[in-house]
Amino acid sequence: MPHALITGANRGLGLEHVRQLLQRGWTVTAAVRDPQGAADLKSLDPGDGRLRIEAYDASDPGAAKALQSKVSGPLDIVFANAGVMSRAGFGSAAGEDFITAMQINAQAPLALAEAFADQVARSQLKVIALQSTRMGSIADNTSGGMYAYRASKAALNAVGKSLSIDLKPKGVIVLILHPGWVKTDMGGPGGQLTVTESVEGQLDLIARANPAMSGRFFHVSGQDLPW
Ligand SMILES: NC(=O)c1ccc[n+]([C@@H]2O[C@H](COP(=O)([O-])OP(=O)(O)OC[C@H]3O[C@@H](n4cnc5c(N)ncnc54)[C@H](OP(=O)(O)O)[C@@H]3O)[C@@H](O)[C@H]2O)c1
Repeated sequence: MPHALITGANRGLGLEHVRQLLQRGWTVTAAVRDPQGAADLKSLDPGDGRLRIEAYDASDPGAAKALQSKVSGPLDIVFANAGVMSRAGFGSAAGEDFITAMQINAQAPLALAEAFADQVARSQLKVIALQSTRMGSIADNTSGGMYAYRASKAALNAVGKSLSIDLKPKGVIVLILHPGWVKTDMGGPGGQLTVTESVEGQLDLIARANPAMSGRFFHVSGQDLPW
């Protein structure tokens, strides 16, 4: 039975990934900051042991290793999905929020990849997926602002590219993904896609992952995005 690990799995895109993967018969380890409070996540439990909920705080540098010690066996997908957005603009953008975004959006996914690469390599699908955004594209930036979010996701993209090269000998495929503009707490009600639509698209992309896709930056539609 395939097994996925999803971070930020208590709401938004992460929660929907858990829902759809469980529906497809997968085992899912859902990593969340507050397992006790994750009511929506717990409500998805099919009661057959396929949903495992673990504590994980991406702002803790030791969190990935601690999580790894609790998850055994091959992992077909490790999805670094947890993320934060800072809306601080020019004049107040260089504060603590900037460091926090870098930690959660870029450093934590790298720590996850370091902790789980061997378990991913032992699986069938062998995918590490990074939840990026086209706001991390430098070429696509025509509106400025959003310094911490853009910079941290650009850093995540750089991390993904290096991982794709370093993990190639293990056969691990690293996908850098933009989910679209999605109606979630972060995306807001104006988003163009529902979580259902976005996650269906992301899981379809992941299902056809192959080595030629590793280290590329994909829109949920499957198109390559510019760096
Ligand atoms: N929505 C969009 O339009 C859009 C577009 C492009 C990219 N993305 C990316 O998609 C990912 C998910 O976003 P979303 O739209 O689903 O946002 P969301 O509804 O705000 O969910 C964010 C998730 O990240 C978790 N998280 C935040 N800080 C964390 C930490 N320190 N440790 C562990 N988990 C943490 C949250 O957990 P808590 O509930 O504990 O805070 C929550 O589960 C993010 O990486 C985001 O950048 C979203």
